[in-house]
Amino acid sequence: GCSTPPPAPASSISQYACQRRTTTENRNRIFTDALEVLAESCEFNEMEGRCLAFRRAASVLKSLPAAVQRLEATRGLPCLGEHTRAVIEEILQCGHSFEVRKILSDERYQTLKLFTSVFGVGPKTAEKWYRRGLRSFSDVLAEPGVRLNRMQQSGFLHYGDISRAVSKAEARALGNIIDEAVRAITPDAQLALTGGFRRGKEFGHDVDFIVTTPEQGREETILPQIIQRMKKQGILLYSDYQASTFDVSKLPSHRFEAMDHFAKCFLILRLEGNQVDAGLNNAEGDSRSWRAVRVDLVAPPMDRYAFALLGWTGSRQFERDLRRFARMERQMLLDNHALYHKTKKEFLAATTEKDIFAHLGLEYMEPWQRNA
Ligand code: CTP
Ligand code: MN
Ligand code: MN
Ligand code: MN
Repeated sequence: GCSTPPPAPASSISQYACQRRTTTENRNRIFTDALEVLAESCEFNEMEGRCLAFRRAASVLKSLPAAVQRLEATRGLPCLGEHTRAVIEEILQCGHSFEVRKILSDERYQTLKLFTSVFGVGPKTAEKWYRRGLRSFSDVLAEPGVRLNRMQQSGFLHYGDISRAVSKAEARALGNIIDEAVRAITPDAQLALTGGFRRGKEFGHDVDFIVTTPEQGREETILPQIIQRMKKQGILLYSDYQASTFDVSKLPSHRFEAMDHFAKCFLILRLEGNQVDAGLNNAEGDSRSWRAVRVDLVAPPMDRYAFALLGWTGSRQFERDLRRFARMERQMLLDNHALYHKTKKEFLAATTEKDIFAHLGLEYMEPWQRNA
């Protein structure tokens, strides 16, 4: 159209997600959905570099204040390569990308996507099953050579529930249950919502919480106690507890760590008060008053709280770029445990997220602006 507003000054958009304010309102979903399919397809084919490139491009588009309506509007944007531009142009012209359509109809992609949608099944396992010729859940469950671990067994058992999005209201209800448990065990403990719901998302695949205690060391015993209590209440459907392996003397960690060393647990909880009538369209008439929900809890020591909170709030892309920014622009190492200045050879202490942004020389970003 003739009334297209001039493109935003592209030079002002940083290549780092931690320097872009990204709300949950994505005006370029048509493009970012396509790019995420391409990224995932690369991930399935172990092309990590290309995968990251597509994810970075999608993240830049998510931060734009308006929908891209002409290819020219993307000129000067960081992280958008030739391939991404071609995909955007195709979508602008035809409403969809042929390459993305081809991937979506590809049997291997569909099967790996299906298998990795099960709790406890990663790309490696999915690939193994695919190479055995398995194509469906019933194939997997009927295959004598497949040994499911405890996590995968729960994943299949609660598949319908945990593949259904968790609402904000359900997250709040779980928050109350966990808060009650924490309060009963250690009244001075601190509990906070983290992950996607802290970023203001309406729906999530799980609910993430962080809990800590003023008394140093006490945080290491609180999770087993919470788990015990839930078990007694009959709401614990699955629990994978990982004790703390955090060791201050091992800091800083030089290699990229997907997981931190704090005590944590990955749970499936039974949440009463199902708002959706599960029996309505169900041939088996399986009408239940509850649903299964995935919950993650992490318990760092109080003096690591700010780093853990920042790390668990996400998004994943925001976290990646915070670390990359620290390394590339500040000669610092950031992870969920600490911030380390490599040339000064010193740790930078923080009690709040604001302290960490300040150490990094970054403008503070509210959690709801971290949906990169
Ligand atoms: N995270 C982490 N270590 C883990 C698991 C998660 O540091 N072992 C971090 C991730 O980097 C992410 C945040 O915790 O930034 C939340 O992870 P996750 O629940 O997977 O994603 P959400 O952003 O909450 O999105 P969703 O709604 O899909 O749960
Ligand atoms: Mn989450
Ligand atoms: Mn999680
Ligand atoms: Mn380590």
